[in-house]
Amino acid sequence: MDAKQLKQQAAQAALEFIEPNTIVGVGTGSTVNYFIDALATMKDDIAGAVSSSEASTQRLQEHGIEVIELNHTADIPVYVDGADEITAHLQMIKGGGGALTREKVIAAVAKRFVCIADESKLVDVLGRFPLPVEVLPMARSYVAREIVKLGGDPVWREGFVTDNGNLILDIHNLTILEPMKLEQQLNNIVGVVTNGLFAQRGADIALIASASGVDQRH
Ligand code: 5RP
Repeated sequence: MDAKQLKQQAAQAALEFIEPNTIVGVGTGSTVNYFIDALATMKDDIAGAVSSSEASTQRLQEHGIEVIELNHTADIPVYVDGADEITAHLQMIKGGGGALTREKVIAAVAKRFVCIADESKLVDVLGRFPLPVEVLPMARSYVAREIVKLGGDPVWREGFVTDNGNLILDIHNLTILEPMKLEQQLNNIVGVVTNGLFAQRGADIALIASASGVDQRH
């Protein structure tokens, strides 16, 4: 079974967590794209979606799923999103697609975060995947210098602009033994909009697809 099929399996399994007639929180990425396609099969049973990126919004709308502004609802029972890395404690690195800020906001509002991933995303320790940090453009160099002081190697994702008009620094060569502490330290740097550590608010459920099926973790 290839990675595409595993992502599809995880995405399909998330449908069982969708509550009828509610607004569904929708993440971003290739795994989520399969989830959006699966969600379309039950679009008449949901009240719409809140989207974490322009790309997901476009795909949802192409399927005829109504996209609702987050400011118009406080009630999102379930948020479904992928991850770049996830641990047994359901803490994650996210933001490979650069949508981390809107993802974190929707995750904060949602009651339950359901992470969908293939088994390649499971790690013992976070940090092999470069940790994305969204920064205000004028703060890029300052934030990079502060990240070096924390022991990371920031690399500017050149040519990429987030949906919020900001830039991304990807921090390489981290071994993140205290994810909550690092999440806080990065948030404390002036000019950082968000970082891709989802440790303080991790997932509630992870659906991890492997050749032997979809494993549900809490
Ligand atoms: C986007 C994300 C994605 O969830 C993450 O990058 C995983 O993507 P994929 O499903 O394509 O592997 O955080 O900002």
